[in-house]
Amino acid sequence: MRIAVYPGSFDPATNGHLDIIKRSAKLVDKLIVGVLKNNSKQPLFSTDERVELLKRLTKDMENVEVDSFSGLLVDFLKEKHATIIVRGFRAVSDFEYELQIAQTNYSLDNNIETICLITRVEYSFLSASIVKEVAMYGGDISKMVPLETAEYMNKKFKDNKS
Ligand code: PNS
Repeated sequence: MRIAVYPGSFDPATNGHLDIIKRSAKLVDKLIVGVLKNNSKQPLFSTDERVELLKRLTKDMENVEVDSFSGLLVDFLKEKHATIIVRGFRAVSDFEYELQIAQTNYSLDNNIETICLITRVEYSFLSASIVKEVAMYGGDISKMVPLETAEYMNKKFKDNKS
């Protein structure tokens, strides 16, 4: 059984993330979306909120599971009996970061392979931080994120204001 983990902060999940989930799920028997807990970045959404949103977005994808993890990614893979890490690759500027992560993980466990999927051109400028910034200033994020994410964000910014 080929099991892969797509790890990330997903704060929040964008159309780019969803595209990588759909495409990578076709390549493996099981895909686990791994949401990083205790990220040093101050997240907008709690881990539970990020997991819940991803579960809603992937509810019709039979071989996709969502879970959170803390600690080392390679340990999470071991726990899930996974041997593949999936990452999305948007632009040359991602290269150094992705190379460093992939090589670190390989050096920690050489049974693990990292697969980078090239982001579709329409999502290549997207990042969760960009989406948060646009939404924070009232810009239109409807083409950047799934409807469920947009609803989550509107609610979060409304709650934060009151
Ligand atoms: O979406 P992100 O923030 O770019 O994802 C980064 C992530 C979650 C892949 C990375 O921070 C991670 O794997 N963290 C877990 C700790 C770990 O294993 N570190 C060593 C490899 S970088």
